Parts: sequence; structure tokens; C-alpha cells
Amino acid sequence: MKRIINKSSSLNGAITVPGDKSISHRAVMLGALSNGTTHISGFLTGEDCLSTVDCFRKMGIEIEINNTDVTVHGKGLHGLTKPNETLCVGNSGTTLRLMTGILSAQKFSCNITGDESIQKRPMDRVSIPLSLMGADISGTEKNGKLCAPLSINGKELKAVEYKLPVASAQVKSAILLAAMYAKGETSIIEPEATRDHTEIMLNYLGADIKHSGTKITCTPVNELYGKDIFVPGDISSAAYFITAGLICPKSQITIKNVGVNPTRTGITDVYKQMGADIVFSNEKILCGESVADITVKTSNLKGTVIGGDTIPRLIDEIPVIAVAACFAQGTTVIKDAQELKVKESNRIKTVVEELSKMGADIKETDDGMIINGTGALNGAVTESHNDHRIAMSCAVAGLMSHGTTEINNSQCVDISFPGFFELLESL
Ligand code: S3P
Repeated sequence: MKRIINKSSSLNGAITVPGDKSISHRAVMLGALSNGTTHISGFLTGEDCLSTVDCFRKMGIEIEINNTDVTVHGKGLHGLTKPNETLCVGNSGTTLRLMTGILSAQKFSCNITGDESIQKRPMDRVSIPLSLMGADISGTEKNGKLCAPLSINGKELKAVEYKLPVASAQVKSAILLAAMYAKGETSIIEPEATRDHTEIMLNYLGADIKHSGTKITCTPVNELYGKDIFVPGDISSAAYFITAGLICPKSQITIKNVGVNPTRTGITDVYKQMGADIVFSNEKILCGESVADITVKTSNLKGTVIGGDTIPRLIDEIPVIAVAACFAQGTTVIKDAQELKVKESNRIKTVVEELSKMGADIKETDDGMIINGTGALNGAVTESHNDHRIAMSCAVAGLMSHGTTEINNSQCVDISFPGFFELLESL
């Protein structure tokens, strides 16, 4: 489906964005593994999270969905049943990697796969540590990497101490989910802190995960207990509106009830460093997660350098930060972001390709990109590359471009943000 975006003179209003994708996945997974019922409110009904629901239904878990309210009838840590067919995660890397951790410890074997993009993404980053724990995972070799479809033969697992070679919350979470079933205490050492939603939710539901410096430890879990889980708005989805509000003239946007866990607020920290007018209000903690309203106003941004331990805190927001950098004064350098190459698309290439079509002064580097702010872009025919975050970033760029911007294959926004274009129009 093609979408047309025209230049906007100003954006004003108060909105909410759909629930956090990472937290929604984990709520279904951990709800299914808990004893008793888990009521989730604010659930993201995007395609990725519905893939997680589908996988658990195929393993005997009853899940009711009523708009954004979801009820998961948990069957405990050992209650999943062998699926009759191959599990399919669609486009969802989070589902595949976290499920691999869970499936490695079950008393059955099964197959799991996903769409064309997922079958190209590296799974050895989870199979290597899980194999050290005794897991039996096989798959397809592509470019020297293990990829889906995967066959997982459930085993009794043992604890490990594992130093993550790349900062990845998905890998950390896969190990933690397996560690619940393992004999002994598992520890994971992170090169840089990554999102800690798994740790927070596991502790909320009765596990004992400890964090000290860069080390996370997990003792075997006897039981998790079903509870009410509130899912805050996804800061990765709010990112498009935060950026639009900053770069469009005469704008003020409030995004209510957004998850502002410090492992996710790299975008607002970097924008503040660039001179942005961003205020958090109504801050509270719900189910262990920090939540706030975020208000942004049109700001004169300056270029900056983004790298090091900030990268995992804004990895999914880099495409839209690149758009903001086109409207900042001076140069923005994004480095240490090689991980962008193994996302839903190679986001270093796809961001540079699409923004170049719009006249941006942007150059690809081996670990990121360099953008010289020009303060102007031109409407163009852009391509989503079937990557939701590329489609939404092109839309934000289009709001500030002369003429009309077309976005081909824009329906992929449904992966994480159903209703994105309608919400943008409402402003
Ligand atoms: C996620 C972790 C990140 C992120 C992805 C969601 C998660 O991936 O890019 O969108 O929910 O754990 P990596 O773990 O590969 O960095």
C-alpha cells in the first residue's frame, strides 16, 4: 500500500501511542509460564506481538484478546504442550529469539520459523550460549550464520556464566528464560546495558534476578504467579511524534503514558543534548516500569555524536534520529551501531538510501552514518523495504519536505504501530 505525506505547517495535540512492543511480548510469554491468570492492559496488537500470541496458543495456552486488554491463562513453567505444526513468528525477531530460550528447556521438540526477513537474521547469537547450557538447536547455515527455520529439541539445561559478545536484550532474555529451568545459577555479563524489561517482569512475577554492575544473575525459578500487567506506550513509537514535534514549526505535542525506562530513553537524552525542548511529567512506576507524559516543542537542534553505550538505549530510534539530524545545525555522527545491519532491514543502508532520495547530505559508514544538517528535504518516492521503522521515518521526513512524499509498501507499520498514519493525520 502506498501512502502520501504532504508538508505540514505545524503539529499540535495530546496523543497516546500503542503499547510497548518489548513489554507486550514478554507479558504474553511470562503470563503463559505463570500459574494463574495474567490480565494485560495496553497490549500492543501489532503483528509482531500477535505472532507471539499465536505461538503460545499453538502450545495449548488460552489467550483472549479484547482490543488492548489481553487475558492469558497461564499453565505454569511446565504447562506448554508440543505444537502440532511449525511455530511461525512472522517478522518478529524478539519472538524467535526469546522463544528459542523457552523452547530449549521444554520436554518436547518443535520447529520454529518466520518470514523471508527473519530467515536472514542471525540466530547463532542465541544458539551459541543456549548450546553451552545443553540446548539442542539446529537450523540453516546462511553466510556462515545459523538462521531459521530452527529445530529445537528440549533438554535439561545447566547454568552458565556467559559474556555477551554483542549488547543484545533479545540474547540476554533468551538466556534468562532458559536459566529459569537450568540447574544452578546463571550469570550474564553485558558489554553495555540493554533494555531490562525481562528482568523487571520476571521479578514482578516472582523470580529472583539480581543485577550488579554489568552482571545479571538468575537462580532457577520454582514458580511464576499470574498478575495484572500494565503496558506503557512504546517510546520507540513515540519517537516519530517526538521527532516530528521538534522539527516541525510552531508545534507542541504531548504523548501520554510512555514507558521511560532508563534503558530506553537514549533518544530523549540525545535530543536534549542537541538542544531539544522535552519535558517529562506525571512520572510514576507501574509494574516496575517507569512511565511519564512527554511534551516536546519545536526546537533548534544542533548536530552531535552518538555512540558507545548510548547505542543500545536508542537502537530502534536511529532511523528517525537520522531524520532529525537532517534538520539540525551542523554534523551528526552515529557510530558503534553495526547492529543496525541485522535488523528488519540493513538500517544503515536503507536509511541512507531513502534520505538520499529526499536530498539529505548523508553518508554510510561501516558502523553508522554521518549526516550534515541542511535544514531542508525534498519530497520523493520512498520505499519501506518492508521495515516498519523505515516507513515511519520516511513519513516524518515527508512532513518537513517540499512537495509530496510517497511511501511504498507502507502497510508494514502494522508490525509495531497499527493506526500510525491515522494518528499522524489527527495532529
Ligand atoms: C528488543 C531488543 C532489541 C531491539 C528490538 C526489541 C527486545 O534487539 O532492537 O526491537 O524486545 O528485546 P537486540 O536485542 O537485537 O538489540
